[in-house]
Amino acid sequence: MRDFDERNITDAVIDSMAGTSDARLKTVMTSLVRHLHDFVRDVELSFDEWNQAIEFLTRTGQTCTDTRQEFILLSDTLGVSMLVDAINHRMPEGATETTVLGPFFVAAAPDLPSGADISDGMGGEPLEVSGTVCSADGVPLDDATVDVWQADDDGYYDVQQPERDSFVLRARFRTDREGRFAFTSIMPAFYPIPDDGPVGDMLQALGRHPNRPAHIHFMISAAGHETLITHLFDAESPYLDSDAVFGVKNSLIAQFARSERAGEQRRTLSYRFGLKPLPSQRP
Ligand code: BEZ
Ligand code: FE
Repeated sequence: MRDFDERNITDAVIDSMAGTSDARLKTVMTSLVRHLHDFVRDVELSFDEWNQAIEFLTRTGQTCTDTRQEFILLSDTLGVSMLVDAINHRMPEGATETTVLGPFFVAAAPDLPSGADISDGMGGEPLEVSGTVCSADGVPLDDATVDVWQADDDGYYDVQQPERDSFVLRARFRTDREGRFAFTSIMPAFYPIPDDGPVGDMLQALGRHPNRPAHIHFMISAAGHETLITHLFDAESPYLDSDAVFGVKNSLIAQFARSERAGEQRRTLSYRFGLKPLPSQRP
């Protein structure tokens, strides 16, 4: 075929993929080409705009390093990460909702005993966290692995501070026979996602702020269950209704209750996490 025009070029590109033996690849690429061409026709993309898009994507790739993934940040800020998450985590009753992983997870966080202080004595409002990990049906899960990580009271993770040579405000705990774990920490602050690259430029051009509401990350794994990746958000934090990555869910907003001990203000957070059984484990 030749002599393609604004209309028939779409089918020509789709027909060119007829030879693939990968059925899923064919489905995905056919839909991608259809939507991409429809988008270009819809906005009548100019050459200038096409060039800007190519330059933006080139800069996005060039901003990626071993420790920075600008394409995931782009996906996060366009709501694609949370959309993929929603499609792939349709949760049963009793299972905790999921949200984005984010770029600050470290697989090699220190294993600490339940009750440990993860703040290494740094300043901030003291926080006591206790949790229970259960299967979605309410049965407590013994020996579940609970990774936690959070920003400090200035909104920075340890890995964003090159002068730090050890991990802080992150750890891995194991649940006891009743599914319980606990740790002490400090209150996290809200913070901006990394906004000194092309994604930050995009947010600014769109009149959007880069902030995420204050939260603590949890990754919880237990035998026979799907790994749960989620956060708990501080109910008093700003930006709950305008999270830059669309990650807030009502069920993940928690009270970090205020109390006073020996004249010192402190906060307490308590939460029950429910894990979704793997298909083979369901009755
Ligand atoms: C985070 O919560 O750590 C995060 C999530 C998405 C993008 C940037 C940061
Ligand atoms: Fe975070």
